[in-house]
Amino acid sequence: MSQELVIHTAPLPAKPAALAIIYAAENAAPAGAGAALWAATGLDWDAVADAAAFKGKQGQVLDLIAPTGTGSQRLMVLGTGKAGLTPLSAWTDRGGSLLAKIAATRAATISVVLDGPDATPLAIAELAAGLRLRHYRFDKYKSVRAEEQAAANLTVTLHVENVAAAIAAIADRFAVVEGTLLARTLINEPANVLGPLEFTQRASELASLGVNIEVLSPEQMQALGMNSLLCVAQGSERPARMVIMRWSGGKPDEAPLAFVGKGVVFDTGGISIKPAASMEDMKGDMGGAAAVTGLMLALATRKAPVNVVGVIGIVENMPDGKAVRPGDIVRAMSGTTIEVINTDAEGRLVLADALWYTQDRFKPKFMVNLATLTGAIVVALGHDHAGLFSNDDTLAANLLNAGLTANEKLWRLPLGPAYDKLIESRFADIKNSAGRPGGSILAAQFLQRFVNGVPWAHLDIAGTAFGTAPTEINSSWASGFGVALLDRLVRDYYQN
Ligand code: BES
Ligand code: MN
Ligand code: ZN
Repeated sequence: MSQELVIHTAPLPAKPAALAIIYAAENAAPAGAGAALWAATGLDWDAVADAAAFKGKQGQVLDLIAPTGTGSQRLMVLGTGKAGLTPLSAWTDRGGSLLAKIAATRAATISVVLDGPDATPLAIAELAAGLRLRHYRFDKYKSVRAEEQAAANLTVTLHVENVAAAIAAIADRFAVVEGTLLARTLINEPANVLGPLEFTQRASELASLGVNIEVLSPEQMQALGMNSLLCVAQGSERPARMVIMRWSGGKPDEAPLAFVGKGVVFDTGGISIKPAASMEDMKGDMGGAAAVTGLMLALATRKAPVNVVGVIGIVENMPDGKAVRPGDIVRAMSGTTIEVINTDAEGRLVLADALWYTQDRFKPKFMVNLATLTGAIVVALGHDHAGLFSNDDTLAANLLNAGLTANEKLWRLPLGPAYDKLIESRFADIKNSAGRPGGSILAAQFLQRFVNGVPWAHLDIAGTAFGTAPTEINSSWASGFGVALLDRLVRDYYQN
């Protein structure tokens, strides 16, 4: 059993818990209710801060053990840096670093004093989100350690001015947090546990939230002409699925927004097999599909007033006697013929049919696809920005902004006819691989052949979905990148 986190909200002033947390800005004493709690210790702020060299810088901690008067065993003053405008994502980080500090003290009951003009309900919700996101662990396959068995649940009470507003803001924000955590778990799960059927099963569970679920079998995809997607699954014992998730929170006649995900549950490379080093990471090659699934959970949980469709193509890319070969030519659902030059460029083959199907059936306002598509994007951008490609400047601008707000950042890269020319094939209409220069752009150009002119953006999340350095809000291998970003996009630009 791992330790659980329980977050309560209560009015000020704080009742003493084992650990009390108050905040102080740079070169300032704690204010408001924090000041009252400090006053109970009977200590002189300036003298203590000076002795501890505490300046209130972001991340700095002043730690009082067994202070008299407060009723707590421990009082921590956390620095928040310079007073003034704090972006919301700084509050998320604050929550994450708070969780780490709480965990290190081993206290089981914690009260946090959050007042003052900066501590708006939205800011408090971000702090709570940060607590939960940082608390997440994927340790279900670790044999239980004795110390953990003994660990009590963490109960954190946030003492705030407006309890009702804080509760509402936290509930709304936690819809998205749960989506991010679902995406993380799907990515962290090993491929022996999460095959195409198991992924389909987990996505189908969103039905309980009012998401309409449809699952396409290989036979149905065959009948639709999805030979591009199906050829990737050909070498696997575990057949492909496509899952269509629909949330109808908007007006009945309004065109939906569409999100499309690459769901390669494991990418060996196929016959163009990958080298062994880090191949285990390819259990996360369904990160795009995981983000779309997490987004659908978020939108349905918060009952977003908008129509959205999520489409995920789920396959396993394996080498086998039946596997697709380099040189094979397949006809995609769109009618375009594709020469498979490299069976390891499989994500674009999956998305070709998923994108075409999505625009053909749903006539969406726009399509955004997410995919751990190319190693080249990791070379270009590292792990801090995902690649953005788009045929629509408004959609691209909205995505860039949403990324800044949600702190899941994007960087736009070009598309263009000169790149497009490079994917022409000697034998078929196009080929799926054309050498290393501009590898991420070529993959995006390939996808663009299947969007039929619909406003579209492609997010290459190969560097951001997993294997990122630990952050204040994530210590797990998978990040859940994309869920918060796309929820922001919908919230800020497209919902009623
Ligand atoms: N899933 C990989 C891309 C990837 C690499 C994701 C590293 C995450 C981390 C994708 O299917 C792939 O193999 N792409 C090839 C394309 C090439 C063969 C044109 C690549 O990037 O090498
Ligand atoms: Mn591949
Ligand atoms: Zn792949």
